[in-house]
Amino acid sequence: MKKGFLWGGAIAANQAEGAWNVDGRGPAMTDVTTGGSVNEPRYVTYIDKDGKPGKIPAHGHGSKIPEGAKYAVLEDELYPNHDAIDFYHHYKGDIALFAQMGFKIFRMSVSWSRLYPNGDEATPNQKGIEFYRNVFKECQKYGIEPLVSIWHFDTPLYLEENYDGWNNRKLIDFYERFARTCFEEFKGLVKYWLTFNEINNTVMMLNLFGNSAGAKEHQQAYQQLHHQFVASARAVKIGHEVDGNNMIGCMICGITFYPGTCDPKDIIANRHMWEKSIFYCGDVQCKGKYPTFAKRLWDEHDVKLEITDADLKDLAEGTVDMYTFSYYMSSIVTTHEVNDKVSGNFSAGARNEYLQYSDWGWALDPIGLRYYLEMIYDRYELPLMVVENGLGAFDTVEEDGAIHDPYRIEYFRMHIAEMEQAYRNGVDLIGYTTWGCIDLVSAGTGEMRKRYGFIYVDKHDDGSGTMARSKKDSFYWYKKVIESNGADLD
Ligand code: BG6
Repeated sequence: MKKGFLWGGAIAANQAEGAWNVDGRGPAMTDVTTGGSVNEPRYVTYIDKDGKPGKIPAHGHGSKIPEGAKYAVLEDELYPNHDAIDFYHHYKGDIALFAQMGFKIFRMSVSWSRLYPNGDEATPNQKGIEFYRNVFKECQKYGIEPLVSIWHFDTPLYLEENYDGWNNRKLIDFYERFARTCFEEFKGLVKYWLTFNEINNTVMMLNLFGNSAGAKEHQQAYQQLHHQFVASARAVKIGHEVDGNNMIGCMICGITFYPGTCDPKDIIANRHMWEKSIFYCGDVQCKGKYPTFAKRLWDEHDVKLEITDADLKDLAEGTVDMYTFSYYMSSIVTTHEVNDKVSGNFSAGARNEYLQYSDWGWALDPIGLRYYLEMIYDRYELPLMVVENGLGAFDTVEEDGAIHDPYRIEYFRMHIAEMEQAYRNGVDLIGYTTWGCIDLVSAGTGEMRKRYGFIYVDKHDDGSGTMARSKKDSFYWYKKVIESNGADLD
């Protein structure tokens, strides 16, 4: 990899910190979301207007509880994000372990409701600021650059309940205040930032629900996204004003789509999938304006967006400095009948007979990563960072305490080799943060047993465990990879 390549790992506040109601933190949606599994959805829980408890499938991040109901934590349910892996109280030890592996960068997110418990306050919660400052100073001690996601699936619950979340334009101002606080309070400690994690999930989710997502759902999704685009652009502008050294990126859920057949209808469908799922958000955030094909996407579902001239100005002025994305899999797009369907990470499609699948049904496709890197670099010519990539797998702790995870090593080996190839082909790839460098709560299923880490955490799906940390075989392997700047993958 290029000199100074930023090797590291990534986590997110709601999946790692725990301490959900400690030191003034307010709740987020993940705090009223139960655990699930590969076959059982997570549920969002509530008390209805007659005082009766209830739950609805979480469906990611946009489902609605009945009229008059209030989100609630129910006594006989388990909420894995409440304690997560208690990074809040373990951050010093965890960062020391990252430093042992040689991390140059550590991606994490700031919990919005830790800084603004309800989201609409005029001033932030000082305890929250103190916590993140301490974390960043700990990184600084080891020469690790923090990479901070300002939003990672955790709008304060109060804003969801009282303002109807991102449907409301006011969220732009609340987010702007939150982002400004981050840039000002953490100035000099943080240089690399992301505005919204996997911002394109909102459109990907529409695809997942197939025909059940009609005009209303599309209208809502595109308007929410527009509010997030403006919020992101304003944050980029503020970030640049506060510190000219800040490097701020978009963050896209990156999936490589392939046409299922050479039927021209499949070729067009595949192109449209790229446009809707991947390019729509990337174009707005990198080029500062809506792409030509946006009109087709809106017309398809009779979407009429409320966009002001000031919004357009913000979008044009708030373009990002780098393109960052997560990459876990590729997916097949076809207009033909499909009998064998697979799904994962906000996408679904036909099974690809040339690929293998993880225990959670995610397609393992390292070459798809190279395809994505080259395609995106060609489109935007901005520095790229892969800020999530990893294998969720079952791990076994041996009697002697060892954890042998050759499957994870193999996964990373193949993906890093493809990144290297893309770099040689001219892609300006500047960093790589593997997902869940330490085991954490799965966003999709709420499980602990879907483990991603180089570091094992003794915490289980039923909430039991000591929270003790131990090194897996992949820990030592990744250390070697970083030491050799990616040359030694054996
Ligand atoms: C991405 C998210 O979608 O994928 C992460 O940004 C998430 O928050 C990761 O954890 C892996 O997904 P999962 O469902 O296995 O946790």
